[in-house]
Amino acid sequence: MELRNDILLRALQRQPVDRTPVWIMRQAGRYLPEYLATRAEAGSFMNLCQTPELACEVTLQPLRRFDLDAAIIFSDILTIPDAMGLNLYFVSGEGPKFEHPLRSADDIRNLPRPDIFESLGYVMDAVSLTRRELGGKVPLIGFSGSPWTLATYMIEGGSSKTFSRAKKLLYQDPELAHQLLGKLADTVTDYLNAQIEAGAQAVQIFDTWGGALSSQAYKEFSLRYMAKIVSGLKRENEGRPVPVILFSKSCNTQLEALADTGCDALGVDWTISLREARSRVGNRVALQGNLDPSILLADRAVIRREVSDTLDSFGNGNGHVFNLGHGITPEVNPDHLTELVNTVGELSPEYHRE
Ligand code: CP3
Repeated sequence: MELRNDILLRALQRQPVDRTPVWIMRQAGRYLPEYLATRAEAGSFMNLCQTPELACEVTLQPLRRFDLDAAIIFSDILTIPDAMGLNLYFVSGEGPKFEHPLRSADDIRNLPRPDIFESLGYVMDAVSLTRRELGGKVPLIGFSGSPWTLATYMIEGGSSKTFSRAKKLLYQDPELAHQLLGKLADTVTDYLNAQIEAGAQAVQIFDTWGGALSSQAYKEFSLRYMAKIVSGLKRENEGRPVPVILFSKSCNTQLEALADTGCDALGVDWTISLREARSRVGNRVALQGNLDPSILLADRAVIRREVSDTLDSFGNGNGHVFNLGHGITPEVNPDHLTELVNTVGELSPEYHRE
């Protein structure tokens, strides 16, 4: 099936486009009443992820409301640890939890490398179903967590503010930490390649907690494994390149090193201007971002001004994908996202004239 809107894929490869493509991290989520209705129908978040028809439905919901240039498959980064036997569940108000977090060296040594198709086949089924339902309207993005970000949840047993246990492991027993991160990198590589083969047309790696590490620890325990994954990915499918996006949150000091991993694009948060980020990475990679999600809480005039400033900060030329600097939050009024998306559509063409 021909892809009718390929501006996301083109922008990720820094090719000419006539306007800036836009999609939003967590675009399917709790700020949408129709998402809450489908989640209620599913009974739980995990059931929603594991039922391809429902995962496909929530993936498509934001595209019915907003003129977005991509869909992102509805799932979660924590499906991998779940498939490794840690058993993911959600406690309302407390976020994700594991029934069997990694508590000992043996837990790590015995961690299986899961058969992706057996344990995560529901994700690939959702990807191929969603590709079919999209009918070439926009590309479908696949994703995974980075090994380090996954490891933090697996070791802490859920969300954490300090990452005490995870960071203790890195410093106290780096060899064991490398064993865990290596296993995760191999699994993430298999998983993303399976998503690509099922029809994902670009992939993003979420390194949400990269910013918790010192510069040196980041290079050794996070960056290195993302680079390994990038080098193991299938970079072409259906006769087209499959761009790879790395989103390492709060890692702006690492932009040059991230650009050298061989990825196509970097997600950037709002703590650095796109102008500065662009001057540092030059023509090596495209940039995706970077509006502060909290701006969507303000009124439409503010949103318009901030979108305009963000476009202006990147400036003229190719290689910008508009997005937030992190996921959209549940309090956002969906009409405010309409304002964002429409403003990008209206104001961005002037940055793409020859
Ligand atoms: O972008 C999309 O629309 C695709 C869906 C997606 C979800 N999670 C759905 C989800 C993606 C890409 C993720 C990634 C993810 N999950 C990350 C990395 C990106 C980031 O935001 O930093 C992380 C760290 C997770 C782990 C996770 N999953 C947490 C911390 C939570 C709880 C969030 C909270 O505020 O309670 C989840 C659950 C989750 N994943 C929800 C959604 C829509 C909310 C669950 C619900 O419906 O109650």
